[in-house]
Amino acid sequence: MQIYSYFAYISFFINYIMKIKTDFLVIGSGLAGLMYALKVAKHGKVVLITKTTMQETNTSYAQGGIASVAYSGDSYEKHVQDTLVAGAGLCNEKVVRNVIKEGPKMIKELIKLGTNFDKKPDGNYDLAREGGHSEPRIYHHKDNTGFEIQRAISEQVMNNENITVLENHFAIDLITQHQLGYITDRTQTNIECYGAYVFNKVEKKVYTILSKITYIGTGGLGNIYNSTTNPEIATGDGIAMVFRAKGFIENMEFVQFHPTALYNPSERPSFLITEAMRGFGGVLKDEKGYAFMKDYDERKDLAPRDIVARAIDNEMKVKGLTHVYLDCTMLNAEEIKQHFPNIYKKGLTINIDITKEMIPVVPAAHYLCGGIRVNKNGRTSIKSLYAAGETANTGLHGANRLASNSLLEAVVYADKAAKHSIKKIKKRSLKKGIQDWTDEGVSPLEEMVLITQEFRELQAIMSNYVGIVRSNLRLERALKRLEVIYMETKVLFNKSKVSVEICELRNAVNAAYLIIKMAKRRKESRGLNYNIDYPDKLIVL
Ligand code: FAD
Ligand code: SIN
Repeated sequence: MQIYSYFAYISFFINYIMKIKTDFLVIGSGLAGLMYALKVAKHGKVVLITKTTMQETNTSYAQGGIASVAYSGDSYEKHVQDTLVAGAGLCNEKVVRNVIKEGPKMIKELIKLGTNFDKKPDGNYDLAREGGHSEPRIYHHKDNTGFEIQRAISEQVMNNENITVLENHFAIDLITQHQLGYITDRTQTNIECYGAYVFNKVEKKVYTILSKITYIGTGGLGNIYNSTTNPEIATGDGIAMVFRAKGFIENMEFVQFHPTALYNPSERPSFLITEAMRGFGGVLKDEKGYAFMKDYDERKDLAPRDIVARAIDNEMKVKGLTHVYLDCTMLNAEEIKQHFPNIYKKGLTINIDITKEMIPVVPAAHYLCGGIRVNKNGRTSIKSLYAAGETANTGLHGANRLASNSLLEAVVYADKAAKHSIKKIKKRSLKKGIQDWTDEGVSPLEEMVLITQEFRELQAIMSNYVGIVRSNLRLERALKRLEVIYMETKVLFNKSKVSVEICELRNAVNAAYLIIKMAKRRKESRGLNYNIDYPDKLIVL
């Protein structure tokens, strides 16, 4: 009895210290996560977790800027039409109109929170133009807008006493009725989220974070491809967690490749050469100096991204090139240095003076247009679970995102999700009886090389068969190869103690599976899903 009590005490104590309780759990420290956290913090305690450091987010890498109608020559209608055209008929028009109308208010808010956007000497904002935009409407901070936004909003979050930030905390899985053992069926519609299991990378312990409301802002998945502009954190974790929790995911086939990443094969992530450089007058050329975009689209270098990326892909295949070039040498050198100081400096590190030499560029995986389905309030199909930012599918982007619409979407939907969460929080309570994560009987992962190898194979499959140009045969082959990796990863996951590496691989496999499945299901070429078996059905608006 005494022994039993002792163990009961220890077990109670361990149980207590492995559980963290909060009103709001926010997963992700990018723009979507930070803005939501700031807004709900006025209505309860917030725990914000991020899998590496606060600053290591896609948001920090954003260069071009954030789109919003700003000057008298522009109009909401023009921005709406540009977005709809880029989206190739799959945007939700109501969502498009709503997000674009919210733009000016959100820009004001970002400025109020301390973000600096560049101004012209006359005091007006210096608006840039990017591909697919009929007017200049991109607010920017030199060529590192995302870094500036991340700096400003992070400062606000760090100074907010209602928000606890936990860096190096990796969300493994959402907690739903599955953990209580009474849901097995994907058709269930009453799934509810009670928080998440979270791995503390420093202590190497899994905590149960119980929350009344959970919010996912985990960003994209560029790292499931060989070459990407995304930092290492982008492995599709949020989407995979929701998929495993049996929530709805959609439009995954629409993976956007940015046309112009710097061609520097040893570098990962690939350094982006912002589209704003083409907006500024930069021209794509082949190795002989031929400006090829006129052969593909009347909008030439400023056609929507899917068209430009496909054109480059085609030039490289037909002419046997490893890359093409962006030529800015005819532009004013001083202006280039002033507007794009980071790209200029980056060029010098690899011995290219971009004001005198052409920049070698190649397309790279950049942005996921689909993701976790959310409604007009940012709520997922799972109760008490919200999502925003790149991980979410709101209906704004359709089959192809218009440049610089993603930061806008992240702030608008963080705001919507916050407003709805605030209304609901009083009715929510913490779930009792949730078991802590257990990995009894499993051993630490011995063969890290297996994970590294599986990840490389996954990236090769996605790049070779599920890239810019697809076919039914390639997709079929990709699925077969992926199934092998899926089975091997499952076995490895079940017999190993938790590590970030195995969790990320598991998530990447889930995300890749969803892309392939949805690409196979789409029997047409539309926007970013270009399949050579359906050339006659190519849909461009
Ligand atoms: P992110 O900013 O990516 O943040 C994701 C967060 O989730 C990170 O903190 C990460 O650590 C965390 N996370 C992920 N998984 C887990 C987990 N399992 N556990 C805990 N935490 C986790 N868009 C524009 O509109 N304009 C631009 O000019 C622009 N330029 C870009 C340039 C580059 C190089 C890149 C890569 C993207 C660019 N984009 C741009 C896209 C835009 O930056 C992103 O879509 C947007 O920043 C996404 O914000 P987010 O908050 O959704 O995700
Ligand atoms: C860029 O600056 O070219 C990126 C813009 C974006 O991805 O929206």
